[in-house]
Amino acid sequence: MSADRDGSQLKTERLDLVIGGSELAAQMLAYHTRNRAHLEPWGPPMPESLFTMDWWERSAERVHEEWQAGRAYRWTVLEGGGVVGTVALFGIRRLHWQSCELGFGLDAARQGRGLMTEAVGAALAYAFDDLALHRVSATHRVDNLASRRVLDRLGFVEEGIIREHAIAHGEWRDQVSMGLLATEFGGGLS
Ligand SMILES: CC(C)(COP(=O)(O)OP(=O)(O)OC[C@H]1O[C@@H](n2cnc3c(N)ncnc32)[C@H](O)[C@@H]1OP(=O)(O)O)[C@@H](O)C(=O)NCCC(=O)NCCS
Repeated sequence: MSADRDGSQLKTERLDLVIGGSELAAQMLAYHTRNRAHLEPWGPPMPESLFTMDWWERSAERVHEEWQAGRAYRWTVLEGGGVVGTVALFGIRRLHWQSCELGFGLDAARQGRGLMTEAVGAALAYAFDDLALHRVSATHRVDNLASRRVLDRLGFVEEGIIREHAIAHGEWRDQVSMGLLATEFGGGLS
């Protein structure tokens, strides 16, 4: 994995993670359109406005602002130049926390090849080595076994159940709280 210091581009063996601009808006729209049924059960609801070019052009501006302010790194994941997923470190808190949250998703057609483990591994290396964070947190739905497996392979530890932490299809759902400390990160797979 190689990284420039500002985090705008991370490179792994098979993938590029980029803080994308509006040049990726059309691809981001297409990615979310073809993966709506695949992604929506596990993440925030997707309003109809999300399926417009306007949304993704504005999103690129917000992503850029958050990155410049050091509040969040919302990478677009590219394989061979095409958008295949997203990885985000968000809710970065400094002061006495030095922590952030992790989110990710992959094109349904690209699953099962270890791509997300590879992409998240690169984001975690950036979080601990470059941003010098102490802790990365992630939550997953109790029944999201693929997401859990990615987190397990990267060394995350289950820390408890957060009751009714997120709403999906109108129903509040418990989520599993997972955490990884800088001292526990092995730089890749466990
Ligand atoms: C979760 C997700 C990102 C995984 O992407 P991926 O590239 O297929 O992940 P990887 O191949 O790196 O690893 C997936 C692991 O889960 C395992 N897995 C997949 N489906 C599984 C299931 N139903 N039950 C148990 N394990 C499962 C795979 O076998 C693999 O483990 P292995 O490498 O030990 O065999 C992808 O499935 C996705 O986008 N899901 C929808 C969005 C989502 O859930 N985001 C996370 C929200 S917390």
